[in-house]
Amino acid sequence: MEPTIISGKEVSNSVKDEIALEVEKIKSSGGKTPHLAAILVGEDGASRTYVNAKVKACERVGFGSTLVKLDADTSEEELLNTINQLNNDNDIDGFIVQLPLPSHIDEQKVTEAIAPGKDVDGFHPVSLGKMLLDLPSFLPATPAGIVEMLRHYNIPTEGKHCVVIGRSHIVGSPMSVLMARNANPGNCTVTLTHSRTQNLNEICASADILIVAIGKPEFVTADMVKEGATVIDVGIHRIEDSSKKSGFRLLGDVKFDEVAAKCEFISPVPGGVGPMTIASLLKNTLLAVQLKS
Ligand code: GUN
Repeated sequence: MEPTIISGKEVSNSVKDEIALEVEKIKSSGGKTPHLAAILVGEDGASRTYVNAKVKACERVGFGSTLVKLDADTSEEELLNTINQLNNDNDIDGFIVQLPLPSHIDEQKVTEAIAPGKDVDGFHPVSLGKMLLDLPSFLPATPAGIVEMLRHYNIPTEGKHCVVIGRSHIVGSPMSVLMARNANPGNCTVTLTHSRTQNLNEICASADILIVAIGKPEFVTADMVKEGATVIDVGIHRIEDSSKKSGFRLLGDVKFDEVAAKCEFISPVPGGVGPMTIASLLKNTLLAVQLKS
């Protein structure tokens, strides 16, 4: 059976169309244009690409956007001051600090400095706590985007075994919470696996839905996947390739061709989870506007 390739690009476009309609409504009733800001510290190539894509997505849906670029040697105090300015700027509805940050800056301290009402990445302890309690909140963008993908393709989740590989605070851990929630998509039996997990291959091979966020190129191979499974690949790696104009090609955490041959649904890299993360960020920004009024 041929797998269905989940097009994050297509799903994100339909989410963006819905957001653009909402923005039109807000503007035509005299409301303020939603405004998302991003802080980028340093010159990391991948982070710059992601932030630029976020700014472009704002234009596409009619949001205002601001990109604050800070040097790699910016002090933690300067960054916290910039965050404070955005917290107090009434025109900014939500903002993000692109991760990772240079090693001299404490990411947790930075995350906690963002006003919870503007935390559209959903990384603040208040946002994560509300998520656990099923209260309305900003859901972390990547896990929320994956849920949206599953919804769009009507992939059954109730009662299914979902295995998540990776327990990061921004993907694996919140992903496991969302898949276990009493919701649709949701209601999965979830196994959260990580670097200390024993018998990982066997556990993965029992997954109906396998969500891979381990950060290792082509880590998941065909022998780890059940026939007819749904596989979602969160990884994105730049691999040097002089035959490409950019000098690199992109690989995910899943060995795509051999795994795809066993799947009912699979998300590719690029064009899978990446665009969904951005769509969720825009959705959270709209929610920030709505929660304010
Ligand atoms: N770095 C990798 N993913 C993300 C994300 O979703 N948000 C931010 N701010 N940084 C990231």
